[in-house]
Amino acid sequence: MYSQLSNDISPFTVMQLVQRAGEFEAEGKRVLHFEVGEPDFQTAAPIVAAGHTALDAGQTKYTSAQGIGELRQCIADFYADQGISVPVERIMVTSGASGGLVLLSSLLLDAGDELLITDPGYPCNEVFAKLVGGVPIKVPVSAANRFQPTLADIQSAWGAKTKGVLLASPANPTGTMLDAGELVAIQDFVTARGGFFILDEIYQNLTRDHVTYTSGLSLCSDIFVLNSFSKFFGMTGWRLGWVVVPEPAVEPLTKLAQNLFISPSTPAQYAAIAAFADDAMAIHSQRKKTFEARAKILSDGLIALGFNVPVMPDGAFYLYVDISHTNMDSADFCWRLIEEYQVAVTPGYDFGDSNAGDYVRFAYTTSDESIVLGLERIGQALEDWGLKV
Ligand SMILES: Cc1ncc(COP(=O)(O)O)c(C=O)c1O
Repeated sequence: MYSQLSNDISPFTVMQLVQRAGEFEAEGKRVLHFEVGEPDFQTAAPIVAAGHTALDAGQTKYTSAQGIGELRQCIADFYADQGISVPVERIMVTSGASGGLVLLSSLLLDAGDELLITDPGYPCNEVFAKLVGGVPIKVPVSAANRFQPTLADIQSAWGAKTKGVLLASPANPTGTMLDAGELVAIQDFVTARGGFFILDEIYQNLTRDHVTYTSGLSLCSDIFVLNSFSKFFGMTGWRLGWVVVPEPAVEPLTKLAQNLFISPSTPAQYAAIAAFADDAMAIHSQRKKTFEARAKILSDGLIALGFNVPVMPDGAFYLYVDISHTNMDSADFCWRLIEEYQVAVTPGYDFGDSNAGDYVRFAYTTSDESIVLGLERIGQALEDWGLKV
């Protein structure tokens, strides 16, 4: 009775780990959380206040499908501040990056069309392709190329049915960015084949100082860009994001948005205007620095325990850690850590198949104190398991 797609989707281990963590917490045990990719901070107070004001002012009706003009202008100004000129018309506000992914898959894929995605990568990407009958093709990426594809990888995966590529920069679960030169070369290759290039920039602004570009839009104007208020702006539960699309895509995408979503959340859109004001931006920038400091505590601690962090992230709030020296499978490692030491970490299997048994993802969306305690417990686990180096 239920669709093939709903049957095919496998539940994430991370959700089972979250449930198990909740059971331990109900027993009064402290769990150290490194599993969920969501900032631990509350939405910044100026945004919450703007949300209250919008509700009090009766902003509870539908908006236009593209989103309210004031917010789209704020997004255009956000790019202008990075030296990137994006006309407001090319910006569409969406129900999170997830809503953007539904829209772009619907816009760009027909049944049987192939979409190249990375392995490891954001696990839902393949579902968005399948939703419209598309065929996700996983391109394995490894530490050797900072878990990002090269032009050669894309060229060799590209087949007669391939329509486009969906990459993320910085990426989940690795936090690495696509090299600027490869990005341009991939876009040139894709364009020459009449295909499309979607760049997921949901972790934009959560980047380190060494990065060489902020948005791929500074390098190529014709890519499709996904972004979100979830991560840097700390608004996961408000369900708001945006896409930037080439001008010819505006009209068909608007029709799809009207039909599939009517409009993004109205109070969330009014609240999000406040996310760009100086006071909220100062809070977001401070939180970004906090993530960076945590990354150092966590990576130093894990390396001291004998783990290999083959690639340091360029951004986001993840470390993709090689556990192969333990000779344990990552699923086994994560289940034993939660069951025996109440430390929650996500196995590589949640992000694909490529070397998944050798990797786990740590999200440093938790306090310094929790990170230190988590490291202590992991150190204890290694000692108890006879794996201390
Ligand atoms: C790479 C990537 N893209 C998209 C999303 C979806 O985010 P949202 O719908 O909250 O904007 C996530 C969420 O974790 C993600 O990691």
